Amino acid sequence: MLWYFLFIASSALTTVLAAPASHVLHEKRDSRRQLPRRRVEPDAWIPIRVALRQSNLDAGHERLMQVSHPRSPDYGKHLSREDVHNLFAPVEESIKAVKDWLLKSGIKTGSVVDYANKGWLAVDMPARQAELLFHTQYYEYYHTDGARIGCDSYYLPSEVAGHVDFVKPGVKLSGTLKKRQVERRDILSRPVGPWEKPHHIHPRHDPAYSMFPGAHALAPDLQNCGVNITPTCIKALYGIPPASHSDPVNAMGLFEHFDAFAQEDIDLFFKTFAPNVPQGTSPTVLSVDGGTAPVAPSDLRNGAESDSDLDISYALIYPQNVTVYEIDDLPNSSGETNKTGFLNTWLDSIDGSYCSYSAFGITGNTPSIDPTYPDPLPGGFNGSLECGVYELTRVVSISYEEAEIDLPKRYVERQCNEFMKLGLQGHSIVVPTGDYGVAIFPGANGNEFGCLSGFGQNGTIYNPNNPCGCPYVTAVGGTRLYPNQTVIDRESAMQVNIQALHPSLPPAFALSSSGGGFSNYFTQPSYQRAAVQGYLSNHNTLPYYLANEAATNIGANGGVYNRAGRAYPDVSANAANLLVFSDLTVFPNFGTSSASPIFGSVLTLLNEERTAVGKGPIGFVNPVLYEYPEVLNDITNGSNPNCGSSGFQAAKGWDPVTGLGTPNFPKMLELFLALP
Ligand SMILES: *[C@@H]1O[C@H](CO)[C@@H](O)[C@H](O)[C@H]1NC(C)=O
Ligand SMILES: *[C@@H]1O[C@H](CO)[C@@H](O)[C@H](O)[C@H]1NC(C)=O
Ligand SMILES: *[C@@H]1O[C@H](CO)[C@@H](O)[C@H](O)[C@H]1NC(C)=O
Ligand SMILES: *[C@@H]1O[C@H](CO)[C@@H](O)[C@H](O)[C@H]1NC(C)=O
Ligand SMILES: *[C@@H]1O[C@H](CO)[C@@H](O)[C@H](O)[C@H]1NC(C)=O
Ligand SMILES: *[C@@H]1O[C@H](CO)[C@@H](O)[C@H](O)[C@H]1NC(C)=O
Ligand SMILES: *[C@@H]1O[C@H](CO)[C@@H](O)[C@H](O)[C@H]1NC(C)=O
Repeated sequence: MLWYFLFIASSALTTVLAAPASHVLHEKRDSRRQLPRRRVEPDAWIPIRVALRQSNLDAGHERLMQVSHPRSPDYGKHLSREDVHNLFAPVEESIKAVKDWLLKSGIKTGSVVDYANKGWLAVDMPARQAELLFHTQYYEYYHTDGARIGCDSYYLPSEVAGHVDFVKPGVKLSGTLKKRQVERRDILSRPVGPWEKPHHIHPRHDPAYSMFPGAHALAPDLQNCGVNITPTCIKALYGIPPASHSDPVNAMGLFEHFDAFAQEDIDLFFKTFAPNVPQGTSPTVLSVDGGTAPVAPSDLRNGAESDSDLDISYALIYPQNVTVYEIDDLPNSSGETNKTGFLNTWLDSIDGSYCSYSAFGITGNTPSIDPTYPDPLPGGFNGSLECGVYELTRVVSISYEEAEIDLPKRYVERQCNEFMKLGLQGHSIVVPTGDYGVAIFPGANGNEFGCLSGFGQNGTIYNPNNPCGCPYVTAVGGTRLYPNQTVIDRESAMQVNIQALHPSLPPAFALSSSGGGFSNYFTQPSYQRAAVQGYLSNHNTLPYYLANEAATNIGANGGVYNRAGRAYPDVSANAANLLVFSDLTVFPNFGTSSASPIFGSVLTLLNEERTAVGKGPIGFVNPVLYEYPEVLNDITNGSNPNCGSSGFQAAKGWDPVTGLGTPNFPKMLELFLALP
């Protein structure tokens, strides 16, 4: 069911039959391959076969593109939690759902034949009934070898669509029909135009964006942004206006793990750098499996991650609220020690069905990887694993990461599939790409720099990050200004000589730079393929390999990255010199951990504007951004070296250092307000 063709294939979308809002377009023919045809007689019987979803692992991807791709007629039509459940339901549930619908539509009980083991239902009905049922018109199409029945497009009720792979005859034609003598009538047909790409939306240039005529004319609080980044600098860099809306549906989510904020620290930040946020402003804290926050400023768990996430989010979105998901009980409990997984217990808490969801041969959590509850150790969470106890906010920023390779491929695939389901429901998952260029972090995978070895290579293979490798998250890289620059200059990729600031740090920490690279587990999704291939064909200097299905050839042929992999970042934002308070002390913070909440805040503000005009959430944003890269400021300077080589270079267009670029808020706003 290549819906993707559909939207690029024809400018005549508006001429398809109107279907009720309860129905969604299920399949549409590529109109470039129009055959001679005539309408089927209303009384002719058509043998309808409904192919049920066998495994929706691929279909889910297509469905996500349907609701997230700006050229899709179903853009923004996110699914309810129940629809998503149905989409991934076991076959028995699908049979029941489709049968119930057919019977409710007036098909006689007994006439629906159930070939469950083959995964389809059969029912014969007159063309006129089938046309009503599927909101379509049936035609006989004439091939050289005879006539076949089919239609150009058809619709299904949204609660049924998830259970159905395809309907035949439909866009897939019936088998060849015996030649019949039927009276020729005029055939309804429209001329088939040439292949035509719909016009890009060209956002109007917003005068507010160029409000900085020259460095000398900058307001005093913008003169020092090359050295000290403040919320004022960030708003100026990206054209972010003061926030005004605060619809409760748009509270922004922050994922925090072990690290916890201190109210005193965020109050100091608000007082000093974001006076628009009143003292005492505090997030809603949702404790997942024993997680707790806030803590005292001097607490071991106050490592500045939560503080800085809250600082920048509130500064950009207040009066909107923030919700903190504080995950897992304390270290040295069974929930924490020796467990590499950090996302599954959170996913369980916001989607109860994930606790027992089977995919890729895995059901539920993996006890050797994920924390288990109840936790009998002292200080452990003694309740059962929390399943579906919280709602997920529309946007959530997760400033945490781990090496993809530390987790089994199937485990990561199952988890990524859950991110896809959240995207289907209109959630935006925003993650940072990390701070050590093409490596993960010093010491990871037994390597001083956090790089990989194998196939004769020793610490020279790039080490991609989870969850950035998942194609259903928005991965945010880092950018920076240099000391002699101001907010009117174009940023560069984030690259900071940390050793100059902290000479005692080991060499592996000497240089921090924007994380970027290619997953070994996931292939390049369609929405980014052209952008990534464009980069690679112009900047292909590094040796590469093509990861095999089991990802057992990482580093083969002297390659350092998987050229066929899902590539990241998608976008980027400032990640250097953000002044934050931690343990009551101000210091400049570095890292894409700042970039992720900045981008999440931008999406939150855009959701607010959409809510204000009665539109739904942006949801999974990548397909829109790759289609309209002009709403981002392209970053073309800098690189992300590590693992003994130069890493990738930033370049015009998408690159594996800064993605498509940083937010241009006025342009993003115009685009997202124009989308349905
Ligand atoms: C923000 O959260 C606080 C505490 O939960 C609540 O009192 C307040 O009404 C919320 N504000 C908005 C705009 O949702
Ligand atoms: C956890 O245990 C280790 C080793 O026993 C100890 O050094 C560390 O302080 C403990 N951490 C906490 C938070 O209790
Ligand atoms: C963690 O792993 C280490 C080494 O494998 C082992 O010695 C230790 O007992 C484990 N700790 C827990 C709490 O399982
Ligand atoms: C669970 O822990 C709480 C708080 O630590 C304690 O009050 C309660 O008695 C514990 N329950 C069980 C069943 O151990
Ligand atoms: C890999 O490099 C490290 C650091 O240079 C070295 O200690 C180690 O022995 C090397 N390993 C192999 C297998 O050559
Ligand atoms: C900043 O300094 C660099 C060299 O250190 C120079 O190339 C660049 O033009 C300067 N930029 C500005 C805006 O002065
Ligand atoms: C470009 O990036 C390099 C570091 O890679 C930096 O030294 C230089 O100042 C940057 N130039 C501009 C114009 O930002």
